[in-house]
Amino acid sequence: MTEKAKATDFDWNNLGFEYHDLPYRYRAYYKNGQWSVGGLETEATIPMHEAASSLHYGQQIFEGLKAYRRKDGGVNLFRPDRNAARFNRSASRLMMPELPEEQFIAALKQVVAANEEFVPPYGTGATLYLRPFMVGQGAVVGVHPADEYVFTVYATPVGAYYKGGLTPTAYVTSMYDRAAHGGTGQAKVGGNYAASMLPGDQAHKAGYSDVVYLDPRLHESIEELGSANFFGITKDGRFLTPKSPSILPSVTKYSLLELAKELGLEAEETVININDLDQFQEAGAMGTAAVISPVGSITHNGNKHVFFSESEVGPYTQKLYDRLTGIQFGEEQGPTGWAVDV
Ligand code: PLP
Ligand code: COI
Repeated sequence: MTEKAKATDFDWNNLGFEYHDLPYRYRAYYKNGQWSVGGLETEATIPMHEAASSLHYGQQIFEGLKAYRRKDGGVNLFRPDRNAARFNRSASRLMMPELPEEQFIAALKQVVAANEEFVPPYGTGATLYLRPFMVGQGAVVGVHPADEYVFTVYATPVGAYYKGGLTPTAYVTSMYDRAAHGGTGQAKVGGNYAASMLPGDQAHKAGYSDVVYLDPRLHESIEELGSANFFGITKDGRFLTPKSPSILPSVTKYSLLELAKELGLEAEETVININDLDQFQEAGAMGTAAVISPVGSITHNGNKHVFFSESEVGPYTQKLYDRLTGIQFGEEQGPTGWAVDV
């Protein structure tokens, strides 16, 4: 049991990336081939059958997105339809029931509205992180899908995921893989993250922010980071990001591929060889939690490659950050449908 959080206890300017037990979460239950209407609940714990498919066979999927306080006091979600669609693609991959997109988005809005006092104030850079997820609750012994599921969304106020924020941090490649081609890398499933804990821990203990995973076949090209996609800005003005069948199709990535073009950069998904880092003037991590976090260096086989700087954010990375967060916090107009009022 955790203690319920109080809004007055938070120091909004100094939030970490941690769980807080807020008053409300959304839950809907799947039984007899259909979803319940769903609604808000106050209890953070979920009763679980000892033979639940999620506990034994990892039949579990999740999403991550944020609610952003605008200057006018309102609250934005950023492209929640993209998370709803990815959630359903993850569900299909693990033979879990899909959830109607309207129910997914309505659940997000209900959780934000019910916990509104926990959406951090405008100007602090902090946000309310939303974690929709679904777990198999039905009992199974053989390896096959459960017949009962719970869908839930909890919220927790967060600050920067990588400690530096816009200060560059160091990354390192690993001998481990997080996902295989043809495996579950494109789906947002807990197993991918379980596989990343050991390499992540090794990297942290060695002083790095996160791991740079390499392609699982040859270990030659960059896949993604433990919790974010990778981008590099080439010296001739191209925004490049890895193309691979085993990485998460990041909502932030597809957004930045468009915003980079606005800045006059060519933008494409392509194979990026780990021995070809010299082509880049700047590099970064991008994702919901990471937002845009500059990659100061990548160490591979003991060789450290420094990008723009180990202490200063580069000009393109800064511009992309300003444009993306400007749209998210409602300071700037973005493409139609990106900012969704709660
Ligand atoms: N890659 C991994 C492994 C992630 O966990 C995330 C975070 O969700 C991302 C990439 C970025 O995805 P998104 O921009 O949709 O948050
Ligand atoms: C997110 O950005 O939402 C993520 O999933 C990263 C998370 C695993 C902390």
